[in-house]
Amino acid sequence: ITIHVLNGPNLNLLGRREPQIYGSTTLAEIERLVREKAGTLGASVTFRQSNHEGHLVDWIQEAGTQGAGIVINAGAYTHTSLALRDAIAGSGAPTVEVHLSNVHAREAIRHRSLIAPVSLGVICGFGPMSYLLGLEAVHRTLAERSQ
Ligand code: DQA
Repeated sequence: ITIHVLNGPNLNLLGRREPQIYGSTTLAEIERLVREKAGTLGASVTFRQSNHEGHLVDWIQEAGTQGAGIVINAGAYTHTSLALRDAIAGSGAPTVEVHLSNVHAREAIRHRSLIAPVSLGVICGFGPMSYLLGLEAVHRTLAERSQ
């Protein structure tokens, strides 16, 4: 089982970006935790970040072609990007949307996700743990499908 963990805009700044909201853990540290968890699941992972919407579209399409699952924190593109929604729907890749913060406890503009309707589910509000729960959810889904 292969899972692509994709990160959108500004997540490269984690650790120093609004730490009162996003905490002090860096993206490199989250990558380490994700790789550790993937090891215990016996899954192979890629872990990528881009500030560019088109890169994320390319990576979603790649996951679809490979039959891989996706864990995605699309950052602010979550709330704006029809292109990411279409990419997820078109790729057919089982996708779990994750967020560090509880977006529903924040500004109304963050309450709507354009990618949630084409995702298996959404995990938000658990900090870096959101990624680990997302990884487990997509892994279980892929394992059940391959039985
Ligand atoms: C975020 C929440 C988004 O609303 C925001 O634009 C981000 C980070 C999160 O992980 O909590 O960039 O996706």
